[in-house]
Amino acid sequence: NTYVVIMAGGIGSRFWPFSRTDYPKQFHDVLGVGKSMLQMTAERFRGICPPENLFIVTNKDYEGLVKEQLPQLSDNQILLEPIGRNTAPCIAYASYKIAQINPQANLIVAPSDHVVLKEDAFTNVVDQALEAAAKDDVLITLGITPSRPDTGYGYIQFIDDEAQPIKKVKTFTEKPNLELAQMFINSGDFVWNSGIFIWNVQSILSAFRLYLPEITEIFEEGSSIYNTPAEQNFITRAYSHCRNVSIDYGIMEKVDNVYVVLSDFGWSDLGTWNSLYTIGQKDESGNVVDGEVMLYDTKNCIIKTPKERLVVLQGMEGFIVAEYDNVLMICRLEEEQKVKEFMYDAKSKK
Ligand code: GDD
Ligand code: MG
Repeated sequence: NTYVVIMAGGIGSRFWPFSRTDYPKQFHDVLGVGKSMLQMTAERFRGICPPENLFIVTNKDYEGLVKEQLPQLSDNQILLEPIGRNTAPCIAYASYKIAQINPQANLIVAPSDHVVLKEDAFTNVVDQALEAAAKDDVLITLGITPSRPDTGYGYIQFIDDEAQPIKKVKTFTEKPNLELAQMFINSGDFVWNSGIFIWNVQSILSAFRLYLPEITEIFEEGSSIYNTPAEQNFITRAYSHCRNVSIDYGIMEKVDNVYVVLSDFGWSDLGTWNSLYTIGQKDESGNVVDGEVMLYDTKNCIIKTPKERLVVLQGMEGFIVAEYDNVLMICRLEEEQKVKEFMYDAKSKK
């Protein structure tokens, strides 16, 4: 009864110029291990669900990339969105489609761009959460001990009952401002939302009915159409009526049956240059290098450039130096939130 939905439709704008709208980061070998983030994510679930129960939701523009990277998937396992409407519509679509195949399905919904270093620990917490989700009407997320007041994450406050391995969530705050994030960190009561969710398909559909009724209506209409040749046309029409909303704002912040499993499986969200810098192998001057370089008086930089380019740096500290395709970007690491802007501004240049 276990099904996995991998969300792979984001454009990874904070990882520009490496991540491009026509080739987003989940399709890149970001870690330099010979596999893309998407391939690593799919592999992580190999022992957790049968291969035919793995579904990928992505933009129709990335159909070719998904098929090339995961050739074992059948067409029915690749859900194509005509436009990105964020994670709530993506999850609604996958849930209705899977409920039509198996109304008792237990779902794991996962992003396609995370690193998990301890695979066994990951499998253990997922099994634990699956067991709970199969029994009760609960929405479970995996929680991560936070290490900095990052404003890009959801923050979860939970009821700390030592006897319960799965904790009831008191508050869920998506992307707080810096002041609030700092308060959450100082209080020591909060964990980060990993963005990996586990629930029974009926539990998430009930939550959609209550909190996102207009999205529910759109996707419910297709109940007899999913898994038939008419699905794609229906979906194209459905998305044109959908608003943009994430599962975190749309549902997780509002429902009262959210639970969290405190986890430690070497998680990181490779969302930004800083996150890649943090997990990267550093040389004696604190530089993380993927490329051909000559470095002089250069410290704490992340350098990711094509192998055929010799990069010479002098007197640089705390910079991102990234070249991909026809773009070279040099930006202070601490100003990395600007990268998103650069991507949008660069679009108008071409
Ligand atoms: N199919 C599809 N369609 N996938 C999408 C879409 C979409 O429109 N938008 C985003 N995704 C995919 C992304 O590719 C990514 O794998 C995943 O959904 C999560 O989206 P992000 O855009 O990366 O979300 P986030 O990082 O800002 O926030 C989420 O993850 C954090 C942890 O990494 C939230 O769940 C936070 O609460 C959480 O802390
Ligand atoms: Mg993310």
